[in-house]
Amino acid sequence: MTEYVAVTADLPKTRTHAIRLHGPEGFEGMRRAGRLGAEILDALVPHVVPGVTTGELDDIVREMSVAGGGVPATLGYRGYTHSCCISINHVVCHGIPSEKTLKDGDIVNIDVTPMLDGWHGDTSRMFLVGDVPIKAKRLVDVTYEALMLGLEQAKPGNHLGDISHAIQRHAEKHRYGVVRDFCGHGVGQLFHDAPDVVHVGRPGTGPELRPGMFFTVEPMINIGRPDVKLLEDGWTAVTRDRSLSAQFEHSIGITEDGCEIFTKSPKGLDRPPY
Ligand code: MF3
Ligand code: CO
Ligand code: CO
Repeated sequence: MTEYVAVTADLPKTRTHAIRLHGPEGFEGMRRAGRLGAEILDALVPHVVPGVTTGELDDIVREMSVAGGGVPATLGYRGYTHSCCISINHVVCHGIPSEKTLKDGDIVNIDVTPMLDGWHGDTSRMFLVGDVPIKAKRLVDVTYEALMLGLEQAKPGNHLGDISHAIQRHAEKHRYGVVRDFCGHGVGQLFHDAPDVVHVGRPGTGPELRPGMFFTVEPMINIGRPDVKLLEDGWTAVTRDRSLSAQFEHSIGITEDGCEIFTKSPKGLDRPPY
């Protein structure tokens, strides 16, 4: 049922239902874009402190994307006018950078996607601002663990549902809620491509994983219920029950025997504490 299509130079770069299978050029392109995304997040570490505005962090992301030879894929994307998304505390995703300052005790997701030579390095991490309560730190730890347990399932012969299930199982073991309303996605020369990568599911379900598939895994996990609501700005998604939410995101490629994580931190700063 699932359709796969080999990526060639003449394949149109428009989204269809088919899952693209990339070759060595794709891996090289994503390696470079993914590394730039990771380097931007690495560079933000000393700047994510009480008193900084999210707009100032957005400026750093834009400047580093351009200095690295790329451009933020979010700039002008569907009317979005910023270089990253910054989601604080009960904001689930797509928080818009602004004059708002970070406060001691906040947990913050920064999601960047530099586009470099046409390839999209989509990645996000959580940052802890000053002294963060243990309950919030635990959410951040479990969310990172859930992502990595999901990625352990990312290998040929497994199915997307194996990744989803590993994430859901770990989150729910801790009585957290996994967000249903947003998902990961195919990535590459398109920012958001097929397939949808949901973060809850049953083992053995969904498309089979094949070498050359590129996609993101980006679970959003809430201390409370999974339900979200969209604010008036049309972008900011928050937890309905106002509970804290955390997210990490990697862009990966399926290899012959597992997966390559394109967005791993060259400095080992993939998770707090930094
Ligand atoms: N980087 C986000 C993702 O993980 C997408 C942000 S699109 C924006 O897919 F327009 F909200 F910036
Ligand atoms: Co993404
Ligand atoms: Co992202």
